[in-house]
Amino acid sequence: MSATPAIEVQATLDQPLGMSAETFLRDYWQKRPLLIRSAFADFKLPLEPDDLGGLALGENVLARLIEHDRDADRWTVHSAPLDEAIFGRLPDRDWTLLVQDVDKWDTDVAELLEAFRFLPSWRIDDIMVSYAEDGGGVGAHVDQYDVFLLQGHGRRRWRIDASDNPDCAFRDDVELKQLRHFAPSHDWTLEPGDMLYLPPGVPHDGVADGPCMTFSVGMRAPATSELLLDFAEHVAERLPESRRYADIDLAPAMHNGEIDAAALGRAATALGPIAASMTTPEFAEWFGGFITRYRCAQFAAPPSHAVNADELVQALSAGTSLLRHPWTRLAWTRHPGGTTLFASGESLACPRQLAERLCNHASLQFDVPPTDAECEVLTALVNQGHLVLRS
Ligand code: SIN
Ligand code: CO
Repeated sequence: MSATPAIEVQATLDQPLGMSAETFLRDYWQKRPLLIRSAFADFKLPLEPDDLGGLALGENVLARLIEHDRDADRWTVHSAPLDEAIFGRLPDRDWTLLVQDVDKWDTDVAELLEAFRFLPSWRIDDIMVSYAEDGGGVGAHVDQYDVFLLQGHGRRRWRIDASDNPDCAFRDDVELKQLRHFAPSHDWTLEPGDMLYLPPGVPHDGVADGPCMTFSVGMRAPATSELLLDFAEHVAERLPESRRYADIDLAPAMHNGEIDAAALGRAATALGPIAASMTTPEFAEWFGGFITRYRCAQFAAPPSHAVNADELVQALSAGTSLLRHPWTRLAWTRHPGGTTLFASGESLACPRQLAERLCNHASLQFDVPPTDAECEVLTALVNQGHLVLRS
């Protein structure tokens, strides 16, 4: 009989997860929580608390400030746009500022994602950064997605309920989806560089032990209802008008208001072949488009001046780099006819090597000029705003 895997491990320089990525994925991913001590050895804070405060005031930035009145157990949530004056009148404890998608705004924060290359990039949603004063937090809750909670600065006390069937009923008196009952089974204090992995559905509560910053690397997984809606729309757009409910076998109606079994059967026949009518490449084409635009808060805009292929080749040979737009999500898929690259919902035929390079590197340089086929893709991506020229 194999023993239950440990819930707390010590990372080493060779194994920042405290084990191989294969072991982590097999034993923990989507299954059970794991505290990894010193996952980021000698962690250097990529962002100061003041920078986070400044970012939180920006237009189009998803930020929330949460205050907790301990005596009355009252929670107040201030959502973006936040007013700068709010920072002047905050108490010296029991509040937290949370900013989502910080990886899109700050390249140093985005670099933290390098440590998560063992996961498909399109499964990663964002890095949310929180700053909390002593006692600050968002209360006990569950998240629907896997999350890696990396302690960046100061200390945070995390309590989690790792039991099999936790009670996940919400409190209905707070707009935060806090738990009505929370029965922690584990209680840890995390230091900078420590990281707590939680699969979806594990109740948790993180409370700042003195001023602290936490970096939450959150995953995304579309709900079946979201997949179904988008897929149905995609399929429907491609069906000919002529394909419809048909009753060539209709018999005289006995009860003309009845939807009888034969009619239901015909409706099912009309719908049934829809999914089956898609080939695997067609299905992949839909999913790649869907998943690269799923939950994107913003999209790259085309540049004011379009470039043509010759201008692009010239710029690249003069040493210009191509930077991926921070909001652009890329993924690729292979099929018998070649490779399709997806860029925030758009799909393009693309040479495989280029698709891999584009997904692997946020910045590209071309010592050898791109081939004509590569150039066509790069030109399109530049003109859609997904790649930005930087000399
Ligand atoms: C945080 O407070 O930084 C993380 C919030 C969470 O538990 O999701
Ligand atoms: Co959470």
